Amino acid sequence: AKTPKRVAVTGAAGQIGYSLLFRIANGDLLGKDQPVILQLLEIDNEKAQKALKGVMMELEDCAFPLLAGMTAHSDPMTAFKDADVALLVGARPRGPGMERKDLLEANAQIFTVQGKALDAVASRDVKVLVVGNPANTNAYIAMKSAPNLPAKNFTAMLRLDHNRALSQVAAKTGTAVGDIEKLCVWGNHSPTMYADYRFATVGGKSVKDMINDQEWNRDVFLPTVGKRGAAIIDARGASSAASAANAAIDHVHDWVLGTAGKWTTMGVPSDGSYGIPEGIIFGFPVTTENGEYKIVQGLEIDEFSRERINKTLAELEEERAGVAHLLK
Ligand code: NAI
Repeated sequence: AKTPKRVAVTGAAGQIGYSLLFRIANGDLLGKDQPVILQLLEIDNEKAQKALKGVMMELEDCAFPLLAGMTAHSDPMTAFKDADVALLVGARPRGPGMERKDLLEANAQIFTVQGKALDAVASRDVKVLVVGNPANTNAYIAMKSAPNLPAKNFTAMLRLDHNRALSQVAAKTGTAVGDIEKLCVWGNHSPTMYADYRFATVGGKSVKDMINDQEWNRDVFLPTVGKRGAAIIDARGASSAASAANAAIDHVHDWVLGTAGKWTTMGVPSDGSYGIPEGIIFGFPVTTENGEYKIVQGLEIDEFSRERINKTLAELEEERAGVAHLLK
């Protein structure tokens, strides 16, 4: 049997945690032959820790054959010890009267501490996925706080936007989501993200040609994908949780197990590709192989796309500037 992999999850007693942990323990994250140990972090608060114990009781009651162990933590220094994968889901939500700036700062504090803890105690190969919002900037902060880990180990979740875009394109073209290739989402996990089907194909046919409607792209598709999170809150009275957990599973699964040449979207530190400044955590089309991702190169960026990419980049640069003083 394989040696168990250690998967740390923060915000483990939250909404997303409740959809995520059972799937990790069921083998959906790292494969049906890979035992896992869950290292669960929650805030140091009686209610949160008690709720976490309840979730762990339910995990026990599932009797997952692949769940080789689990521990509860309130300190990232123990939660991240030897972690092979770290899913950073817990974050500070925006409270009443809280400005965007306050939100950035509250989260900067959390992700500085967690980045330092990863730097100190996690596996040197730890794969980090930040889900907690603002996800790209939180990932940037964690990365900057972990100078002894390779920067490429830090990623942010754009996969929910990617999956949302896939479903919209499938519905529009009357095709199956599984047959759509070469779709991607550029930029920030926020309404400014740019979902791009210009290169997408179904059975070798161009999706752009099938749709052939730039107004639909601009006025329906992009706003629908960009504002989907708000639409879910409006309908459900709570933010996306199961779909977010599913996207986190997809992201790490594909990173670890490979995409066999197919594209997906990950928020990764830029290497300067497409004029995105180095180090900014940006949604890019990637392929993955042997546990490494590669940004798809050489794509043509037309005027409309350049405008969209510049807009989402400007937002990320503004967020980065907003936390720069905390990273000194
Ligand atoms: P939630 O509020 O139900 O759960 C968050 C949990 O994190 C809470 O139990 C809280 O106690 C815990 N937490 C807060 N600070 C922590 C810390 N420093 N260490 C450990 N745990 C901590 O929220 P939910 O719905 O599970 O969402 C979590 C985050 O994911 C939010 O920031 C949300 O905006 C974000 N999100 C991101 C998406 C993406 O596509 N990137 C999609 C959907 C949600």
